[in-house]
Amino acid sequence: MAKNLQIRSGGDDVTLDVTDGTIRAADLKQIATDQGPLATYDPGLLNTASCRSAITYIDGDAGILEYRGYPIEQLAENSTYLEVAYLLLNGELPDAAQLAKWESDVNHHRLVHENAKDIISKSRYDSHPMAKLMSAVASLHAFYPGSRDIADPAEREVNMIRLLAKMPTLAAFAYRHSLGRNYVYPSDELGFIENFLSMLFKRQERHYQADERLVRAVDVLFILHADHEQNCSTNAVRAVASAGNDPYTSAVAGIAALFGPLHGGANEAVLKMLNEIGSVDNVPEFIAGVKDGKARLMGFGHRVYKNYDPRARIIKKSAEEVFQVTGVNPRLAIAQELERIALDDEYFVSRKLYPNVDFYSGLIYEALNFPPEMFTVMFAVPRTAGWVSQWQEGVLDPEQKITRPKQIYIGERGRSYSPITER
Ligand code: ACO
Repeated sequence: MAKNLQIRSGGDDVTLDVTDGTIRAADLKQIATDQGPLATYDPGLLNTASCRSAITYIDGDAGILEYRGYPIEQLAENSTYLEVAYLLLNGELPDAAQLAKWESDVNHHRLVHENAKDIISKSRYDSHPMAKLMSAVASLHAFYPGSRDIADPAEREVNMIRLLAKMPTLAAFAYRHSLGRNYVYPSDELGFIENFLSMLFKRQERHYQADERLVRAVDVLFILHADHEQNCSTNAVRAVASAGNDPYTSAVAGIAALFGPLHGGANEAVLKMLNEIGSVDNVPEFIAGVKDGKARLMGFGHRVYKNYDPRARIIKKSAEEVFQVTGVNPRLAIAQELERIALDDEYFVSRKLYPNVDFYSGLIYEALNFPPEMFTVMFAVPRTAGWVSQWQEGVLDPEQKITRPKQIYIGERGRSYSPITER
């Protein structure tokens, strides 16, 4: 194991410390180049650690995902989303009294200010629910100005709880606004997930009670989506937080990043692909097209996982449970055949392409009657647990500084301004 790195530069030897498998990029500055002190060039931050974190561990080659050291499989089997949110935020699983207080605290804050609701109501009827969610979350710091005091532990705590609690309410309002339906307010009688489903789907019935198998399936989906270390949206949250921002303003950056089709939108692309394939008989032809470079097998491959995404395995089981309630999504057979062929095909095996979390999640959301635009919202709501945990970790980390990368300037220099008549 390297303890340090020797670099020969212009006849001089420079020794850089290697700690935790990394060098400090700032240490490279002692090496001179023609363009000034040496720096690294890393678009997309492919090989750059931006923080030290104790929240989520991923070993992509082995297909391991752990929150605070607990394997995702054990949490999905035994825990709930709210308990996992507590774990991510506090580092330890709660005891019974701590969990009861936590659930009561979060559930207490589910209502939103009527003006925040109005922001959704004033959106265009066909604006994307992620855009409505962004606007509403951006407004929240105005109702809680104390949230700007991020040095105050009590303000930090209450505002992280508020954000966790209000995201499902705002998400459900955004959904119902698109349908022209009345808003359903949070109910004290319902737990976190049951209440979310009630705010989404309640019609005229006096009490809405979701099938408990669906409640459990959504709870598991939420656990699986709660955090994924320094992904694009979490990095955006941390960058905005590094300027001293409150959790609401920082979370808006996360929602915006997740909105992108390369990040939160892949499950929608899987459904589109399954629709285009149309039937199991067309799967071999589609796979041949993928191998010829005509299309990508959406829901396969991952930047970090070079093995079966552990979340995909769990989601596959959840999908089967959901279909027991909703009836089987006809596209399931196409997805299973794609997976069967791909996992046995040299093209996919040699490139280590396995199903990722998005391969089956879209099928579940569709079976629950969500339109495709809501799929990313169903990702943003649970990821809030990760965002607030990472936000807090960044705020408390004395090594963190305002995010401000370098650039390699490739433009013109030293030009003289010419009047418009002479151009
Ligand atoms: N179908 C077919 N071939 C693929 C796929 C795929 N889904 N993914 C990668 N490959 C091939 C590439 O063509 C490349 O082949 P080559 O070496 O012959 O050129 C090789 O595998 C490596 O691919 P890269 O694009 O370099 O891998 P990268 O790590 O950059 O991309 C990504 C990862 C973007 C997820 C990619 O696998 C992909 O596009 N998958 C489909 C989209 C998807 O499912 N995204 C969701 C990711 S999970 C999430 O964000 C929550």
